[in-house]
Amino acid sequence: MNGTQESKQEKGPTLVLGGTGKTGRRVAERLTARGLPVRIGSRSAEPPFDWEDEVTWSPAVRGIESAYITYYPDLAFPGAADKVRSFASVAVAGGVRHLVLLSGRNEAGALLGEKAVQESGVPWTVVRSSFMNQNFDEGFWVDSLLSGELAAPAGDVADPFIDADDIADVAVAVLTGDAPAGRVYEVTGPGLLTFADAVGEIARASGREIRYVLVSSEEFRTGLIVEGVPADFARDLTALFREVLDGRSSYLSDGVKLALGREPRDFKDYARETAATGVWNIAAVAGPR
Ligand SMILES: NC(=O)c1ccc[n+]([C@@H]2O[C@H](COP(=O)([O-])OP(=O)(O)OC[C@H]3O[C@@H](n4cnc5c(N)ncnc54)[C@H](OP(=O)(O)O)[C@@H]3O)[C@@H](O)[C@H]2O)c1
Repeated sequence: MNGTQESKQEKGPTLVLGGTGKTGRRVAERLTARGLPVRIGSRSAEPPFDWEDEVTWSPAVRGIESAYITYYPDLAFPGAADKVRSFASVAVAGGVRHLVLLSGRNEAGALLGEKAVQESGVPWTVVRSSFMNQNFDEGFWVDSLLSGELAAPAGDVADPFIDADDIADVAVAVLTGDAPAGRVYEVTGPGLLTFADAVGEIARASGREIRYVLVSSEEFRTGLIVEGVPADFARDLTALFREVLDGRSSYLSDGVKLALGREPRDFKDYARETAATGVWNIAAVAGPR
């Protein structure tokens, strides 16, 4: 038996923060499928973990060896990096020996969050990700797509949308020792798409007419408030979009290939396979009349 196999056998539990969310759920499923112990960290888990309630943090890290950290709502939001820094110190004091952070791509707040785990005093890994495909079917954009119109302040900026399955594969490779820790894996999909391109692929795959509408940041913020999003959240989300959609993420990176030795999933494949689930099918949502 070599050292890698031994360390895998001896591996203690992994805490997966956001373990019911887009990447966390996939990370938890993959670790569990490999017979590795997992604890979900979220408000609905037992014990509950809440980023807004520090009292919940120590019980969540008790007996944990590694943590996959996804901050909610977004690492780029004001105050997020401080929370991650405080969590990292609770985790390290509680005996956690490896922190894997899901980060955004070069937003100022995300870089501060990365610094917080890099200065935690234990081995760290950063998975620095572009926009996720799953924002379109598991997140923010589903209702817009169902309405036939996705309005975003994205102009014709192109982003290398990445699949949450690829992010989870990279995180699991690092957590299990299949890929080296102690580095930043900058992960993107295989191609650059504008929001108009992405919406076009989804429309084609689902056989529907869906348009992308360019709006200003101010129109976007106001639209969120009209939809019932709290004003603070709308302000911070708008600021995040303004920052991340300024072209800083319009390039490809090879983090998936580096960690996994394979290419990332193509957006077309994501759109086709996801459309087949019926998630963008209005009839399925509306039900029989
Ligand atoms: N989405 C993207 O395109 C993208 C791209 C790059 C980086 N990121 C980063 O990924 C992180 C997660 O974003 P995401 O969009 O993928 O979200 P997500 O993980 O899908 O968020 C949902 C998860 O967060 C948990 N959660 C919600 N409120 C919580 C709270 N107060 N305390 C603890 N857990 C809470 C939810 O469980 P409960 O409801 O049970 O609490 C659920 O497990 C962010 O920090 C973001 O910066 C996202």
